[in-house]
Amino acid sequence: MHGCSPNCLFLVAILWVSVAYYLYTPFPETANKPWKQSRITAVFKLFGILSSIGETLKIDSATNISRKLMSGIGTSIYAGNPNVQVEKLIFVGVDVVLCRPTTKLGKLPGLVYFHGGGWVFLNADSYRPFTEALCESTEAVVASVEYRLAPENVYRAAFDDCVKNTVFFLRNAEKYNVDMNKIGIAGDSVGGNLAMAVALKLSDDPNLSALPHLAVQGLIYPPFQFFNFRLPSYIEYG
Ligand SMILES: *[C@@H]1O[C@H](CO)[C@@H](O)[C@H](O)[C@H]1NC(C)=O
Ligand SMILES: *[C@@H]1O[C@H](CO)[C@@H](O)[C@H](O)[C@H]1NC(C)=O
Repeated sequence: MHGCSPNCLFLVAILWVSVAYYLYTPFPETANKPWKQSRITAVFKLFGILSSIGETLKIDSATNISRKLMSGIGTSIYAGNPNVQVEKLIFVGVDVVLCRPTTKLGKLPGLVYFHGGGWVFLNADSYRPFTEALCESTEAVVASVEYRLAPENVYRAAFDDCVKNTVFFLRNAEKYNVDMNKIGIAGDSVGGNLAMAVALKLSDDPNLSALPHLAVQGLIYPPFQFFNFRLPSYIEYG
């Protein structure tokens, strides 16, 4: 390092070690791919730091900067899936990314998908690498819902968008060449929470009882309660 005195080198070294220490989260060896989880956690911590710096510099709110950083990851290096045809549609006022496998003709099963991101981050577009892979592997038409995010849209907005979209998809399945009796619902993280809430709504609301029943529910690490995180899997895996 040119022109850096031993003191300054020492400070740089301390800073580097502190940042590395802050970014590093060990995962137990029993965890699934602990090294990969550590890396992902480090990236998210780094995003947190960059967002705070950006907010201090008045570039934008930390939330909006984090959104841009996170959404960028999924899409920036994604070249699309040759076996999936993608359409951007609007169902009852809500944007939807509709994926259809090109490998299979005729009427297909359907899957309504809600992305994760803590109700605040990410979007259907940044989830395309995942939802298109899901579409390809399940050979189902996947409707990934661009529900409204918090904090700009307060509670019920996301849920209402997800209900409206699912109802619309069930009612209009034929139009999209989807078998209305083979429509499932799925989501990861808060998307799993939404998938559960929408399924409950569909089964509880007498006004919706005429709709075909959901064929399957896929809940990927869904949060259902925030009162107690000391559950067996948390205790076991740290
Ligand atoms: C994010 O940016 C949009 C557009 O500039 C703005 O309307 C919104 O209030 C911002 N949200 C937050 C949480 O800062
Ligand atoms: C069912 O529809 C009626 C008439 O539109 C409405 O008044 C009622 O609140 C609805 N019920 C539920 C549970 O949403």
